[in-house]
Amino acid sequence: MEHRFIVVSEQESHFAQLNEALQSIGVAVWLHWNTDVLSQLVGSLGTNIVFVEFSDQNSQKAAELTSSLLAVYPRLWIVGFAPRAENALIIEAMRSGARDFVELQAPREAIRRSVQHVLEQSPTRPAKSTGEMITLLGARPGVGTTTAAVHLALLLKQEVMPSEPVLLLDFGYPSGDAALYLDTKVGFNFCDAVRSLRRFDHALLNTAFAHHKSGLAILSLPQNLADLRDISPADAMTLLSLFKSYFKVVVVDLGGFAGVDLLMYALGISERILMVSEQTLPSVFSARQLLHNLREREFETERIGLLTGKYDARIDMAPLQIAQNLQIPWVDNLPQRTDKMIACANQGKSLSEVAPKDPYLEVLRGLLGNYRHPAASPAAGVPHPASLFRRLLTPLLK
Ligand SMILES: Nc1ncnc2c1ncn2[C@@H]1O[C@H](COP(=O)(O)OP(=O)(O)O)[C@@H](O)[C@H]1O
Ligand SMILES: [Mg+2]
Repeated sequence: MEHRFIVVSEQESHFAQLNEALQSIGVAVWLHWNTDVLSQLVGSLGTNIVFVEFSDQNSQKAAELTSSLLAVYPRLWIVGFAPRAENALIIEAMRSGARDFVELQAPREAIRRSVQHVLEQSPTRPAKSTGEMITLLGARPGVGTTTAAVHLALLLKQEVMPSEPVLLLDFGYPSGDAALYLDTKVGFNFCDAVRSLRRFDHALLNTAFAHHKSGLAILSLPQNLADLRDISPADAMTLLSLFKSYFKVVVVDLGGFAGVDLLMYALGISERILMVSEQTLPSVFSARQLLHNLREREFETERIGLLTGKYDARIDMAPLQIAQNLQIPWVDNLPQRTDKMIACANQGKSLSEVAPKDPYLEVLRGLLGNYRHPAASPAAGVPHPASLFRRLLTPLLK
C-alpha cells in the first residue's frame, strides 16, 4: 500500500527535500503550521506518519502541535525533523511525543531507511482506498488532449467502475473545454474547492461539485484565471492529494496549463501520464520543448507515454519515430475522426453517445484494459475492474 505522509513546515524547500526522500515510499502533503485542516487531513488521508519541523524558533509551537495531534490520534506516529538534528531539538520532540527524528541534511537513503523503520513499527491503520491519478498533457493546443481526457474519464465511469467516484479535472487551456464538451455547467470551480479545503468532505463533494449525467464529477478552473493567484499554492497541492482519497480515479487534463508549480506537483502524484502529440513538426517541436522544460526541473520524462493524436497512417511521420525523437515510450494512436468529432461538438454529446463502438473509443478502452462492465458484456472469468486497472497501469507506475 502506498503511504501518505503529512509534512508540517513553513519552508517549502524543507518540504521538497523530505518529499524527495519519501517519494519511493508514498505521497507527501505539505501543510503550514497550526492549520485546523491538519487533524481533519490525518483522518481523511489515512496518514501513517506526520512529520513536524522542529527549529530553534518554533520548537515550542512544534511540541504543542505534536501533543495536540496525539491527543486526538493517540496511535499516530509523529516524526520530528530539522535541517540539523541538535540534541535540544530532539529532546523537545521526544518529550512532546514524537517517535523519531530525521535530519534533513542526512543522505536521502538514510532518511528513507529511518522512515521505513518507523513504518515497520507503526501500528497498521485500516487500509484506505487509494485513488489513481491519470494526467494528460498536450504538445500544444488543438492536438486533442481535452477530447482524450473527457472520453477516458467517461469510459472509466461508465464502463470500468460505474459505482466508484471518478473525477475529471478540467485544467486545460482553452479553459473549461472539458465541461463544454460534456455539456455540463460547472458553478463550483477549483478555486472555490481550494477555499473550501477546511470543510472538504463527501457532502460538499456531492452537493457542490458538478456532475455529468453519467455521474462523472467535473471540476474546472475559474473563468477568470487570475483568481488562481489568490489561492494558496500549498492548499491547492493539498487538495490535489486529497482528491486521491475521495476518488477512485482522477483524470487530469493539463493540456496547455501554465501554472508550473501545480503542474509539477500534479505530475509528481500521478500514477500515469500521457502526452498527446499530432504527427506534425510544430506539434513534435512543442512536445520536445515541454519535455525539455520538465527535464530541466529534474522530472523523469520516461514516465510520460506518447499518445499520437488525430493519427493518420498516410502521414509520413510514424508514431514510433516521434516517440524516439521525444525519448518517451509510445503508448498508442488515437485515430483521426474529424467527421465524428464535429458531429459530437454540434450535438453537445460525447462520442460514447454518438458512436459507442468508434475506433477512437476502442483505443481508449484498450488503455483501460478493454474491460467491459459485466452488465454490458457478460464475459466469464473477467477480473475485477480495479485489479485489472491496476495491473494495466503497473508498467507506467513510478
Ligand atoms: N482524434 C481526433 N480526430 C479528429 N478531430 C479531433 C480528434 N481529437 C480531437 N479533435 C478535434 O480537435 C479539436 C481540438 O480538440 P481538443 O480536444 O479540444 O484539443 P486540445 O485540448 O488539445 O486543445 C476539437 O475540434 C476536437 O473535436
Ligand atoms: Mg484542451
